[in-house]
Amino acid sequence: MRWQKIEVASSKSYPICLGASLEELGQYLEQRVETNAHIIVISNPVVSEYYAEKVMSGLTNFQADQIIVPAGEEEKSLQRLEWITGEALKLGADRKTLVLALGGGVIGDLAGFFASIFMRGIRLIQIPTTLLAQVDSSIGGKVAVNHPGGKNLIGAFYPPLAVWTDFSTLQTLPWKEVLDGLAETIKHALIADRELFEFIQSHQKQIIERDTATFKEMTSRSLMVKVRIVSEDEKEEGKRMLLNFGHSFGHALETELAYRGITHGQGVSIGMVAAANLAKARGIISSAEVDKLINLLESFGLPTSIDKDKDHQKLVTNMQADKKNRGGQKILILPKGLGQAVICKDCSDEEIVEAWMAITK
Ligand SMILES: NC(=O)c1ccc[n+]([C@@H]2O[C@H](COP(=O)([O-])OP(=O)(O)OC[C@H]3O[C@@H](n4cnc5c(N)ncnc54)[C@H](O)[C@@H]3O)[C@@H](O)[C@H]2O)c1
Repeated sequence: MRWQKIEVASSKSYPICLGASLEELGQYLEQRVETNAHIIVISNPVVSEYYAEKVMSGLTNFQADQIIVPAGEEEKSLQRLEWITGEALKLGADRKTLVLALGGGVIGDLAGFFASIFMRGIRLIQIPTTLLAQVDSSIGGKVAVNHPGGKNLIGAFYPPLAVWTDFSTLQTLPWKEVLDGLAETIKHALIADRELFEFIQSHQKQIIERDTATFKEMTSRSLMVKVRIVSEDEKEEGKRMLLNFGHSFGHALETELAYRGITHGQGVSIGMVAAANLAKARGIISSAEVDKLINLLESFGLPTSIDKDKDHQKLVTNMQADKKNRGGQKILILPKGLGQAVICKDCSDEEIVEAWMAITK
């Protein structure tokens, strides 16, 4: 066995099979799933073109079908879910069908939510093919579709049977998508793994050149942060909130821009710097450490400031609507130095405005 197995503790524990090849998945399933089981690979046209054949080539002892969904965040919808249900029924899906979600976070969330509700729940394996999906969305069991009222509003906690992570898929990922995953990776480093932060600092060139060994080390360390956190707090009642670092500020900005002209990774990048400035004002992170964060993000071309034309008060109002808030109370995650973070429930609007002002250029 050339790959590594990491167990995620949850209401239903499951392994992450790290460094496994897509072609080997069939062999893994032969040990765990009944011969001739019905399998549906759900993917999008881009990912399918690159990788579906590799997965399918290992599934010759099963009755394997594919459903190809158009690419894009807008496909995470109830309409698409209904369409997938119709396609699955045409393929003869039943309670014993196994879904393989092959793709980034969109496919993982959509196919995962389909698996969670089709005939009250069928088996699911996540096969993440983006950096963001490998370090973040495939771990922790959250699956969802969007609603016009907000992102991920209709969803479930649905642990998969396994997560099958083949690092080689990252080689074909467009750089823009790498950056989205890198922002989450730097987030993981900042909240829980100082060594990972230093590793990224000292391997900038290799990361930009997409050196295989560097990517493997960085991705493994990053996903371990998420594994440790969700294993302690599956349902986001405590520690899991730390993963929201940078997101409250980032979402406020994404909302302000109506999700146009800003990627999620860029929002998180700016959001982390805003939160770090608030933490600096509270004296829990030093100026030098905030500068290190800014330098690291900028070295990859991630943004760290906002334009003068932004209405700070409006951004604070947007943060009021963050669904991670509890009982009208804003919950912010603040870095405590590099490699630790705290949950803050008493940040005032004045402090938040100051933080936005500190990153306005
Ligand atoms: N469930 C969770 O816990 C969780 C956590 C974070 C984010 N998310 C969700 O994840 C989604 C974002 O995921 P994403 O960033 O992976 O985006 P994505 O799934 O849209 O993938 C990004 C793009 O990369 C392409 N792609 C995927 N893998 C590729 C590969 N190996 N080579 C070439 N192209 C490839 C896709 O076709 C797509 O165009 C959002 O919907 C977000 O809400 C969920």
